[in-house]
Amino acid sequence: MEISGKRALVTGAAVGTGRAIAARLAAEGAEVVLVDVDDTAGQEAARTISAQYEHLDVLDDQALTALLDRTRPNILVNNAGGGAVLRPCFPDADPARWSASLDLNLRAPMLATQLVLDPMREAGGGVVINLGSTAGRGLGPHVSPEYSAAKAALIRFTSTLAPLRETHRVRVNCVVPDWVATDRGIAEREALPPAERGPALIPLQTLTDTVVRLIEDDALAGRVVLLDRERSPELLEP
Ligand SMILES: NC(=O)c1ccc[n+]([C@@H]2O[C@H](COP(=O)([O-])OP(=O)(O)OC[C@H]3O[C@@H](n4cnc5c(N)ncnc54)[C@H](O)[C@@H]3O)[C@@H](O)[C@H]2O)c1
Repeated sequence: MEISGKRALVTGAAVGTGRAIAARLAAEGAEVVLVDVDDTAGQEAARTISAQYEHLDVLDDQALTALLDRTRPNILVNNAGGGAVLRPCFPDADPARWSASLDLNLRAPMLATQLVLDPMREAGGGVVINLGSTAGRGLGPHVSPEYSAAKAALIRFTSTLAPLRETHRVRVNCVVPDWVATDRGIAEREALPPAERGPALIPLQTLTDTVVRLIEDDALAGRVVLLDRERSPELLEP
């Protein structure tokens, strides 16, 4: 799908990866709607990249439904997420706390995807990009089991949806980054002792290049691109 002239909605886009993705899509010629719960940073980001800002808590089903109904994006980037660094985690966190991570990192992108399907089909097609994480890959331990489990499920959710290309003309794809060089990521890595920093962070350009590729390439549906800090971007086999 050509990005220029399309309406793109990016969730959690006031800062970090969402802001970088929103800026890139605007630079590619999309009409960008940037949503977040942080109105100050969101409005500042929208001004900087000539996008529209809307307040949206993606955990608010009614507000999410109303906004998607009103904006009818051709491209949806389910970026709002995170919380891997919050403590306590499962099993020390109470159920309400760990459920909130599942809601943010899995349920909200699932609901948003469901809500855009019919409008995208009516508009002739669309693309959904989900933000996974390497925390959702592999079989090792993770400090935040709820974050890791939600991201693993989001990857699998994406890959099950390949048939939507035929039924709805909607392609759902997922980018799975390792630690990214956002302002916060850079500061957090530099706060570590050098021996614990590991390889260089994923450049924002690599992340946004991948998002653009997953939107533009009409052959990619239900596909997952892994951004590992030690390897080139890898389109995983289905
Ligand atoms: N930064 C990384 O290294 C990294 C690595 C792997 C995956 N990811 C994923 O990328 C996405 C963004 O990560 P980030 O590091 O830029 O996050 P961040 O915490 O820096 O920014 C997240 C943004 O989402 C907004 N947000 C939080 N809850 C929201 C809600 N309920 N509704 C609307 N907006 C909400 C926040 O206000 C903030 O602006 C997440 O899904 C995260 O899991 C990030």
